[in-house]
Amino acid sequence: MKKILIPVDGSPTSVKAAEKAAALGKLINGELLFITVVNMPSEEKYAYFGMNVEQQFTANRKEMLAKLIQEETKMLKIIVRNLDTGDLKVTQKVLVGRTAAEIIRIAEEEKIDYIFMGRRGFSPVERFFVGSITQKVISASPCPVIVVNG
Ligand SMILES: Nc1ncnc2c1ncn2[C@@H]1O[C@H](COP(=O)(O)OP(=O)(O)OP(=O)(O)O)[C@@H](O)[C@H]1O
Ligand SMILES: [Mg+2]
Repeated sequence: MKKILIPVDGSPTSVKAAEKAAALGKLINGELLFITVVNMPSEEKYAYFGMNVEQQFTANRKEMLAKLIQEETKMLKIIVRNLDTGDLKVTQKVLVGRTAAEIIRIAEEEKIDYIFMGRRGFSPVERFFVGSITQKVISASPCPVIVVNG
């Protein structure tokens, strides 16, 4: 069975990409894997400047991350609920890390056949070609990437 990976950031373009992915999924009776990636600022950054990150900050970061994962999980659920996925197998995952690297990692790990993503995301800057995440994924993806215009 073909596996389709759909990274969404919640932007209208990413939702449109998800709709197209679901439509293809139904045509080929594929399996859909929806992911969203949460980024956290690294402590290493501060260490680089010789700064000591206080323990309190570390605790807050953990809390912040937990909260973000919670919110992203809800967002993903809403996006998937609003899609017509018929009786396809659907999986949802919230990942933590650097966005493009996580998308590539899971595409390799899950032996994904196609990635569907938006040409752009939330950035207010209208890029000439595609957003930075999409650009990175196109460059390094182990499988074909279908870029959906918003
Ligand atoms: N955090 C994320 N998790 C999952 N998918 C994402 C994430 N961010 C972006 N994407 C995917 O990448 C597509 C393009 O977004 P991208 O971030 O590349 O462009 P942008 O936000 O317009 O510009 P920028 O390069 O400033 O981020 C989105 O439509 C979505 O499919
Ligand atoms: Mg973006």
